[in-house]
This record gives sequence, C-alpha cells and structure tokens, in this order.
Amino acid sequence: MTGAPASAPTAVVDPAAAEEFLDQFYAETSPPARFDHRVWQVRHEIETTGSYTHTVDELTFGARVAWRNSARCIGRLYWNSLRVRDRRHLSAPADVAAECVGHLRDATRDGRIRSTITVFAPDRPHHPGPRIHNDQLVRYAGHRLPTGETRGDGRYVDFTERAVGAGWRRPDPPGRFDVLPLLVSAGDDEPEIFDVPADAVLEVPLIHPDHDWFADLRLRWHAVPAISNMPLVVGGVTYPAAPFNGWYLGTEIGARNLVDADRYDLLPVVAERLGLDTSSERTLWRDRALVEMVRAVQHSFDVAGVTMADHHSESRRFLTHVAREESAGRRCPADWSWIVPPVSGGLTPVYHRYYDEPDPETRPAFLPPHHP
Ligand code: ARG
Repeated sequence: MTGAPASAPTAVVDPAAAEEFLDQFYAETSPPARFDHRVWQVRHEIETTGSYTHTVDELTFGARVAWRNSARCIGRLYWNSLRVRDRRHLSAPADVAAECVGHLRDATRDGRIRSTITVFAPDRPHHPGPRIHNDQLVRYAGHRLPTGETRGDGRYVDFTERAVGAGWRRPDPPGRFDVLPLLVSAGDDEPEIFDVPADAVLEVPLIHPDHDWFADLRLRWHAVPAISNMPLVVGGVTYPAAPFNGWYLGTEIGARNLVDADRYDLLPVVAERLGLDTSSERTLWRDRALVEMVRAVQHSFDVAGVTMADHHSESRRFLTHVAREESAGRRCPADWSWIVPPVSGGLTPVYHRYYDEPDPETRPAFLPPHHP
C-alpha cells in the first residue's frame, strides 16, 4: 500500500501514518488499550476498509496536537484544554450546518468563550467527507454597490457573490455587517446554503473609553473567530470539516479587520473624528488612529464581558508555552511573521527572537484551506 496525498479525498489511509500517530499517542498519554493490540486492530481495519476509526481519546489528542503544531498561532498555551465535539457520524450538509450553529452556541457561552472544535465525518475511500466553504463560521458580507464602492467586508465580495449565486437573498438594503450564510457541501457536490441564526452570533458594539462619538460610527464585531476551512489530519485520516475556535486578540479586529485597506479601511474615518492632521504621513496620524482603534475594540469586549486577549499578555503567554514545550523535549515551530502582533511588535517579547522552522509535513495538523 502506498501513502496518498491528503488532497486525494478518496485515498486509502497510509498505515505508516496511522502507526506514527499511535506511537505518539502512546508516548504522550497512557491509553487503557495495549499498544500492540491497538496497532494490530488499526492495521486490520485499514486492510479491510481502507480507513480506520479513531477512539474518542485518539481524536481528542489528535485535534489538540494539531493545534499545538499550528506555527502561526500565538495562543497555543492552552492547546491541551481544547474541547472536542465529536460529530463524526454527520455528513449531510443540513446536519453539518445545524451543528456548526450548535458549535457557536457551545463555544460562545454568553461571552465566556471556550476553545472548541467540532469534528464531522472524515474522508473515506470513495466517500469524501462534508466541506464547509466559508473560511470562518461567522463572517460579514462584502457588497459591491452599483456606484462601484464596496460596503461591508471587502475581503468577502467574491464569497458573497458565490452565496448569492447559490441562492442567498442579499439583505436589502445591503449592510456593513450582514452575517454570511454557511455554504456546505457533501463531498464535491454543489454547496447548499444555510442561514446562521442571529441569536447564535454574539456581537459586540464598539465604543471608545474616552470618545463618545466612536459609538456613532456604529461598528461592531462578532465574538467568536471559528475557522472552518482547514482540514484536520490525524494519523493518516483527513477530516475536511472540523471547525475550531479560540478567542480574539484585540489586534486582529482593531489593527487588521477594521483597518486593512481591502477590509473596512477605517483609519481615515477615525483619524478625522480624532481631529488628526492627515496632510502628511509624517504626522503619524495612521499610527495614532490605529492605537485608538485597538483600545476601542479591547474596551468594548471588556465592557460586554466577552473574552479577548491583548497582545502584550498573549506574547508573554506564548513564550511560556515555548519554554514548556522545550522542557517537555519537543520542538515548538513558529512563524515569526504571524506570531508578532501587527501593532507595537517591538514592545512584545515575541519580537526579539527566532523560532524553530515549521515543517509542512508535521502531523497531526490543520492543513492549509481547501479550495472550492
Ligand atoms: N484573524 C482572524 C479574524 O480576525 C481570526 C484567526 C483566528 N484567531 C484566533 N484568535 N483564534 O477573523
């Protein structure tokens, strides 16, 4: 039997990948079943069915280690507390969509956000698992208006048009924060659309601790970042639909989503309200507006009682994580350009060092997004 790339959804599981995972699982934990027995069982199941079924403990360990291996994530200190919702028996798009909504409710808990993953049916020989086409469970639509301007999240203009093509009724009038529907398909079939009910999406209205006018901008952001298009690969098995969430870091919203020129592009608006001199880059009006934006985001989440990290504390926690990994005798690969926050990089300790180089073959892992 030969190993097959993860991109061949109907391929037979590589027994060597399964055994390598079991080795790691048994080295790091103390499962009740004997190692040789479990290896024999898995080999036999692969020979007869082309795949095998993880125990709940194997799946949980696999998902947690996939997080631990995510070189771009600064929040890995808590990898071992990831909650796993085992929904491997589900593959019909309507069931998957309903459980994605269930995931949001479970993970949100009125703002006391819990890191959670929901795992749906894996790819099996001749039976690809379901796919979620959205990159996150909650995203805001981008509308191209007849005037040529964009309203909403500029990054989602194409996805929004795809949703409309699949039958989504674009809100009328189009808004700046319209939650996109889920596009879910059974394997390679055409995606079906499912609305995400408003009461499953906790959102925080943005205010500023010193400036009352900030509320008049009527900005908001959703509480839970839940990535939904990165396949989880554990022991040779690919779970193409395995949405997972942590909680936000203020800078993700305040220094990127609301600020990037191809997203909400709000720095000029905020700078004007702050009365900054925007006549030259050298006044550093962008930098000054940026800090107020991040402050507003953090303050608003705090006032709303929604979990949010700040880049200073999170950077220190990450270095604690790296140190713990080293004392456990493990490498801790990290991608400097993703770990260093987009504001005040040099003020955070993560800036002042380098990290082990990530290896794309490391498993378990969350793979780069699958493409439609
Ligand atoms: N940066 C992405 C966003 O703003 C979220 C990525 C995951 N972030 C996290 N804190 N788990 O939507």
